[in-house]
Amino acid sequence: KKDTIILGIETSCDETAVAIVKNGNEILSNVVSSQIESHKRFGGVVPEIASRHHVEQMTMVLEEAFNTAELSWDSIDAVTVTEGPGLVGALLIGVNTAKALAFAKQKPLVGVHHIAGHIYANRLETEFKFPLLALIVSGGHTELVLMRDHGNYEVIGQTRDDAAGEAYDKVARMLKMPYPGGPHIDRLAAEGEETITFPRAWLEDGSYDFSFSGLKSSVINKIHNAEQRGEVLKKEDIAASFQASVIEVLTKKTLRAAKEYNVKQVIVAGGVAANKGLRARLQEEFDEIDVPLLIPPLHLCTDNAAMIAAAGTIAYEQGKRSGLDLNANSSLPL
Ligand code: KG4
Ligand code: ZN
Repeated sequence: KKDTIILGIETSCDETAVAIVKNGNEILSNVVSSQIESHKRFGGVVPEIASRHHVEQMTMVLEEAFNTAELSWDSIDAVTVTEGPGLVGALLIGVNTAKALAFAKQKPLVGVHHIAGHIYANRLETEFKFPLLALIVSGGHTELVLMRDHGNYEVIGQTRDDAAGEAYDKVARMLKMPYPGGPHIDRLAAEGEETITFPRAWLEDGSYDFSFSGLKSSVINKIHNAEQRGEVLKKEDIAASFQASVIEVLTKKTLRAAKEYNVKQVIVAGGVAANKGLRARLQEEFDEIDVPLLIPPLHLCTDNAAMIAAAGTIAYEQGKRSGLDLNANSSLPL
């Protein structure tokens, strides 16, 4: 059988990324241009700045992806691109680039869901076994997704307010840590102790949904109240206490869903999957019930285009095609 070579483009947030992937599981090139430095002084991603960066970076990143893979357009079977969800202005740069390339090079065009990409980042490392459960935790998402087959996604739980990464970033900001705050909280938490018991949002019995805004408010109130009394709380302890609450809820709900659906694999994806505390706790729990836990290496956890090409390969092989009227959709359902 002939190899399937897929080009992937990702611009949903602040990474301009292009990759070329063979057969959905082998990276031939994976180029990511990050803009974190440009957004840092604003304490978060500024949509207009993100879009401008994508326009400036795209041609270079694209060229580098082809150079690294040592391939020409002749070898490319299809152009795949993140169509949503994400920042609409940022998504539009990727979508329009993909449409122009597909039209000019006469290649099939396939729109890809960003979260499908995060899940398929794992297939670049390990073959999937179904049913599988994916926990997606990033700056924009907190979702539990059940997959009974390739390209088949059932969202069984999601956040009702803030995403897990968003909560990390907001708490980090309160502790005067730079953006993105997740890694800083993770580091502080390792040096602190859970001296404050923050609430765990379990929601209704049996629910796989999440909520992090109450926790975030508790942390903010705790800091304010202490300040007013002239007390100083140790940053490390606040971080450890906050992280303990996030990790416990994420781990317990994932574990319960894995048992209920009798899954053969559990996948963790998205930027928060980089969290050392979360990884350790999940590993411990899933070792105990003997279910393999898949967490991609750090560079595949965060936004990249290899994951889009990997998810795009399955969509392409299943016959999905997008027209040249493909549009960016900031709230695309999975
Ligand atoms: O997947 P990602 O790179 O971009 C989105 O699609 O959102 O995720 C970024 C998020 C940020 O909120 C960042 O603070 C968080 O992932 N993050 C972490 C860690 N590393 C990154 N959160 C907790 N612990 C970490 N070690
Ligand atoms: Zn992402």
